[in-house]
Amino acid sequence: MVGAGPVGLAVAWRCARRGLRVVVYDDRPGSGASAVAAGMLAPVAEAYFGEHELTALLVESAARWPGFAAELAEASGVDLGHRTEGTLVVGLTADDLTEARRLWAYQQGLGLPITPLRPSALRDREPALAPRVRGGAVAAGDHQVDPRRLVAALRIAAERAGVVFRPARVGALSEVDARITVVAAGCGAAALTGLPVRPVKGQVLRLRAPGGGPPGFRHVIRGYADGESVYLVPRDSGEVVVGATVEERADTEVTAGGVLRLLRAAVELVPELTEYELVEAVAGLRPGTPDNAPILGTLPGRPDVVVATGHHRHGIVLTPVTADLVTELIVTGEPDPALAPFTPDRFPKEPRWN
Ligand code: GLY
Repeated sequence: MVGAGPVGLAVAWRCARRGLRVVVYDDRPGSGASAVAAGMLAPVAEAYFGEHELTALLVESAARWPGFAAELAEASGVDLGHRTEGTLVVGLTADDLTEARRLWAYQQGLGLPITPLRPSALRDREPALAPRVRGGAVAAGDHQVDPRRLVAALRIAAERAGVVFRPARVGALSEVDARITVVAAGCGAAALTGLPVRPVKGQVLRLRAPGGGPPGFRHVIRGYADGESVYLVPRDSGEVVVGATVEERADTEVTAGGVLRLLRAAVELVPELTEYELVEAVAGLRPGTPDNAPILGTLPGRPDVVVATGHHRHGIVLTPVTADLVTELIVTGEPDPALAPFTPDRFPKEPRWN
């Protein structure tokens, strides 16, 4: 296994439990996109135009999350911070709401559970929302988990299942001596496999509620605010994750402009956030693909290499279904039909993608 992010660790854990001998290579386990990610399990709020097959996979994986979380918490003894209050999607201005309503109509057309709310119902649910917020909807099935705890739990569970960790960077597939090599290296998969995975930068902030208490709201809030898109993820610990920029670049610098845009949108939606401590500002690199969907399956011409990467904005929510499908492929050699839209051979060799 190359890569000790959530996907690599979950596949390693599952494979070890199926009786395979698993070695995980990573010189900095858990230091990739998952260390920055907010942990939204949001198949509905993140169902975008033209991504039907990806949306179906997100829905399937989100449905597996409660069982996966319970099993992992039991195997590791770690509380994953899995919370099920749901997500409010809100619009600040009439323009913001127009854009949001168009997406809700699309999502409802797919049969996804998103329910518009009257402004009064919105405020009954979250009094911390700014009076300026014009309207919103609830995606009750869109939940959250803490990705840092997820990685910690997976490492413990994997170790307990017999997985061996090697703190080494793999620069080429020839460096790995294994019957099957799984590449779950996020953006690093491009150099190892030639697949079109590109870094997509995201800046994320972490705030802390004053007085050591929990944040003043309980739902995940995904907001459109004067044309900016932002999400606010409250944790029991008092932390609020504010994310994220989406930038087509490969550096991990935190910029004043990025922080300004995130904070401005955040406090427009929930004014009390101005009183919160700014604890962390960080940037990570999502492993993006040409169609925004993950790359899952056997590498063309290399029956000994299985790829599980390119999860872009959805690595955390897609962890359970990826682990199940990829483990099954490794153990049986037979690809589940659900993998068909996501195989590595779906991209033509030309043009050069990244
Ligand atoms: N899924 C949230 C993000 O990528 O920012």
